[in-house]
Amino acid sequence: MKVLVVGSGGREHALAHFLAQDVHVREVLVAPGNAGMANDARRVPYDDPRDLVTLAASERIDLTVIGPEAPLAAGLADELRAQGIAVFGPGRDGARLESSKAYAKDFMQRHGVPTARYATFTNLAAALDYLREVGTPIVVKDSYLAAGKGVTIAHAPEEAERVLRELFQRENAEVVLEAFLEGQELSVHVLTDGVHALTLPLAQDHKQVGEGDVGPMTGGMGAVAPVPLLNERDQARLEDEIIAPVLRGLAADEIDYRGVLFLGVMWTAEGPQLLEINVRFGDPETQTLLPLLDGCLLPMFEAVEHRTLDAWHPVWKSGTVAATVVLAAPGYPGAYEKGLPVRIPDARESDTWVFHAGTSRHDDGFVTSGGRVLAVTALDGDLARAVAKAYREVDRIDLPGAVVRRDIGGRLLP
Ligand SMILES: Nc1ncnc2c1ncn2[C@@H]1O[C@H](COP(=O)(O)OP(=O)(O)O)[C@@H](O)[C@H]1O
Ligand SMILES: [Mg+2]
Repeated sequence: MKVLVVGSGGREHALAHFLAQDVHVREVLVAPGNAGMANDARRVPYDDPRDLVTLAASERIDLTVIGPEAPLAAGLADELRAQGIAVFGPGRDGARLESSKAYAKDFMQRHGVPTARYATFTNLAAALDYLREVGTPIVVKDSYLAAGKGVTIAHAPEEAERVLRELFQRENAEVVLEAFLEGQELSVHVLTDGVHALTLPLAQDHKQVGEGDVGPMTGGMGAVAPVPLLNERDQARLEDEIIAPVLRGLAADEIDYRGVLFLGVMWTAEGPQLLEINVRFGDPETQTLLPLLDGCLLPMFEAVEHRTLDAWHPVWKSGTVAATVVLAAPGYPGAYEKGLPVRIPDARESDTWVFHAGTSRHDDGFVTSGGRVLAVTALDGDLARAVAKAYREVDRIDLPGAVVRRDIGGRLLP
């Protein structure tokens, strides 16, 4: 089998790496990939997403795995399927659940999925009126794709107003204002082939840049899995109250969804609430989850595309916890410098991985070329040891001024 991975981040490096390890896979291509993936995949540059359809045909690709949301929202999966090429990822209709938060909130409400009270606005005056009515804390969300940086939790009305004014400077702005929820956040990945569904081990990301969850939102600073927060009864609540109605909603709306639903769930004092629906794997959750899989990765994608997910029985490494720590460029998530040298030692402890997210080649070394630069994952027998191991690897990497959260997994540790 020849597989094409679309994307260029740490998630795609993990996908390409574990696909390349799979005995069923002859070659992995990655478009466009990054410099750190050279050992796992052949990189192919492209200018326009439409070039990928031509590429998949000319390279006789058996399966295309689409990593990021943008090409899904642009309809790449539809175009590939129309050419008879197997794809992992939903079509444009399913991708709308991520590309429009207003649409996603309406979907949740229509299908009885518990979610924070909200209202959607297309003009500033109405949004400000609503803000005066409900007050703070309030969550202000850009309705459109914003690479994980379109959400502000405003604790004061002045802050909410400032963000609203900023968002409405843009033409055709659409903003969701929603009630602030408190609780533990969970990343719930649910594979579905349109008929069957399978929930992957629960993960927890760390969205804010600062330790103790302060400061601006990022794409994600680190993740751990599996998360031992839910007892059997709560697992059942998650399935019944969140996952089942989302799947029923897809069917009712006649969305033929083949891919992964990455549900952002807030576990509040009253139980689970759905924050958002992503239509692809999480980054960095992918770097955390894939090393936990004991076995081949390709059959998972094939089962989803061929609607045989009921026959795929993953084995997860038992007694094993994964921790991923992101190294970001100095300044991230604000303006950051590119071209800084990054030195990564070749020797590493067993059961550790360094996934590249934003690196380029320079002479015989790597330099930074993005905000999130690397994601380091370690496996060990418990969370504390996995986290400690990940930080040992992080500390061996030379990236002066790197932004690293030192409390990954901290919400789950005593
Ligand atoms: N209603 C809410 N209450 C509290 N925190 C929220 C709420 N909505 C979002 N958040 C926080 O903001 C983060 C980003 O919001 P999300 O809706 O997932 O958008 P995106 O991932 O597209 O930026 C979440 O991971 C969560 O930490
Ligand atoms: Mg999110």
